[in-house]
Amino acid sequence: MSANPIDVQQFTALAEDEIQARIAAAKAALGERLIILGHHYQREETFRHADVSGDSLKLSRSAADSKAEYIVFCGVHFMAEVADIVSRPEQISILPDLAAGCSMADMANLANVERAWRELAEVLEPDEQVTPMTYINSAADLKAFCGRHGGIVCTSTNARNVLEWAFEQREKVLFFPDQHLGRNTGYTMGIPLEEMVVWDYDLPMGGLTPEQIKKAKIILWKGFCSVHQLFKPEDIDRFRAQYPEGKVISHPESSFEVCRKSDYVGSTEYIIATIRDSAPGTRWLVGTELNMVNRLHEQYRHEGKNIHFMSDTVCMCSTMYRISPSSLLWTLENLLEGNVVNRISVAPEEAEQALLALNRMLDVSP
Ligand code: 13P
Ligand code: SF4
Repeated sequence: MSANPIDVQQFTALAEDEIQARIAAAKAALGERLIILGHHYQREETFRHADVSGDSLKLSRSAADSKAEYIVFCGVHFMAEVADIVSRPEQISILPDLAAGCSMADMANLANVERAWRELAEVLEPDEQVTPMTYINSAADLKAFCGRHGGIVCTSTNARNVLEWAFEQREKVLFFPDQHLGRNTGYTMGIPLEEMVVWDYDLPMGGLTPEQIKKAKIILWKGFCSVHQLFKPEDIDRFRAQYPEGKVISHPESSFEVCRKSDYVGSTEYIIATIRDSAPGTRWLVGTELNMVNRLHEQYRHEGKNIHFMSDTVCMCSTMYRISPSSLLWTLENLLEGNVVNRISVAPEEAEQALLALNRMLDVSP
């Protein structure tokens, strides 16, 4: 193993063509020792190098199934953590840029969630009455919290199955960090809005009265995605006025109002499959991240499908964007030199408890 990792500065000034060619060469040289997983929100110049692309659930399964020595994750931090947790101990999970976090995941932390659990205990018996359920967009220690308190993880694909499982265990659910995914999923299961309350983690008792907590079926953490919150119901109204025959499809991290006005709601993988399977000539308004929508537009315009982005604002996930081709090249050429850079490693006890919650999810996923 080389003692000195190659400095990242050497890569930033390289021409794009050279970067692309060297990534391809490094991938070929690493062969089956490497798998690159790419989330759909990755920019095109990085995304094209992924061996497997997908939503959070599909990529978690790929990480669990992979035999590769190195799992390089072109996505965000929590995804590389999940890859580390579900893979074998000798496999190495790598995130090419450590600043690629998720602003929604950062809205819940262990101290706040443990405080909420203690405060709920003033009104209820949380370990008997409340299933903690975390969206996969969360840090490993929150997945571990769910693991040790009989809880579970979900993704946007399986949120309904997971919520059904959660209610089979206990009468209430504490859902974090995304209030929108929780509310949108609960509502489609027939839970009325007044039985879903928002826990404001900046306020004592989440800003709720004991009566509100006792009446609630789902306690929703006050988190949101800064990208999906930019989509507005008025965007849909304008599109429908102009294209009455058009279809609207949104990611469930979008607001309740946007999801109610959409024809279809689902994960990134679901959005892609729905548009792929639609009839030639179909016109779509899509409420999810811009890089993915631009890719869909390019991919399907030759079939006469018209893909519109839902907002006038540039709704890009700036942290997904951190995974640049130069950071990917830096990672791969270091691996060729025997240097592991940016390894994402979850402490064993935390990983074990988080795996409990992840495995419960995988068992109930479609
Ligand atoms: P998907 O699992 O649907 O790809 O969503 C991940 C995500 O972070 C969406 O913002
Ligand atoms: Fe997080 Fe939103 Fe980016 Fe998804 S789009 S990774 S939820 S900030």
